[in-house]
Amino acid sequence: MTTAATKLLAVLGHPIAHSQSPAMHSVWLRRYGIPARYLAFDVLPEDLPHAIRGLQALGAIGCNITLPHKEAALALCHDVTPEAKAIGAVNTLVFHQGTIVGHNTDPIGFWQGLITQVPCPVPHRPIVILGAGGAARGVITALTKHLGVSLLVLNRTLGRAEALRALVPALITGPLNTPLPPDTQMVVNTLSSGAVVPDLSGLPGDCWLYDLSYNPPLTPFLAAGQQRGLRGINGAAMLAHQGAAAFALWFQRTPAVDGEVMEAINGQNRPHL
Ligand SMILES: NC(=O)c1ccc[n+]([C@@H]2O[C@H](COP(=O)([O-])OP(=O)(O)OC[C@H]3O[C@@H](n4cnc5c(N)ncnc54)[C@H](OP(=O)(O)O)[C@@H]3O)[C@@H](O)[C@H]2O)c1
Repeated sequence: MTTAATKLLAVLGHPIAHSQSPAMHSVWLRRYGIPARYLAFDVLPEDLPHAIRGLQALGAIGCNITLPHKEAALALCHDVTPEAKAIGAVNTLVFHQGTIVGHNTDPIGFWQGLITQVPCPVPHRPIVILGAGGAARGVITALTKHLGVSLLVLNRTLGRAEALRALVPALITGPLNTPLPPDTQMVVNTLSSGAVVPDLSGLPGDCWLYDLSYNPPLTPFLAAGQQRGLRGINGAAMLAHQGAAAFALWFQRTPAVDGEVMEAINGQNRPHL
């Protein structure tokens, strides 16, 4: 029931129609009986400051920030966690006593999505990251924090990959058509949907694929891997875990990422191939 005491949460992006965050957070709000509603708003870049300050003025608890606003939103925060600052982007805002505190829950979401679905990564075989945008920054942050593993970042715009050395000086970088090392243990695809899938033929048979996209569940990247017999996961579990971490920041409790939540995201729980 919506009453005068009902609080607001939101996700701001452009476009936003595809977002599964309202469905996901609504499951948790209902489960815990929290009197709040989570809505999605399509916000143009020039309207972002008004939208964020407007939410704050309306007494919202906080909001999520998605493409293309993650970098711009950071500049609007009064305080930012060291991790979000290093990544240069925020995906979760907490409104607290008149201040806006910025967080980035993508690294924890990526890592939880990985370790809950893939056998423990090993330290001595390289991981390849395709793409060098905001999501890649979160992936690199998580992998560097949890694994001392060699990372190869391949991107269409080489300079953007090289700029990531500010985050991790030991990164190896190259253009997208660089042959993938034959001992690669995992390839993480952070390319925007629509980017051409690179040649996966040099990968060993035990290499895992991790696509940050999740719609459709069998993404073109995972489908190309499947043709080669490679196992893979999509980004649905990452979305759920980054959402759970955001929920914990707002309500001081970490909700379970279970079948009901995955069903809300996917329509069907199919994170594995
Ligand atoms: N599952 C989750 O929870 C989750 C969380 C975050 C992000 N994501 C997904 O991750 C993806 C990337 O997000 P992002 O924030 O990193 O976006 P971004 O900052 O815009 O970066 C996009 C990346 O894709 C590359 N790219 C775009 N079009 C290309 C093309 N036609 N050919 C080759 N490369 C192309 C870009 O290369 P250039 O540098 O050369 O432009 C860049 O490396 C999105 O699909 C997003 O939905 C998922």
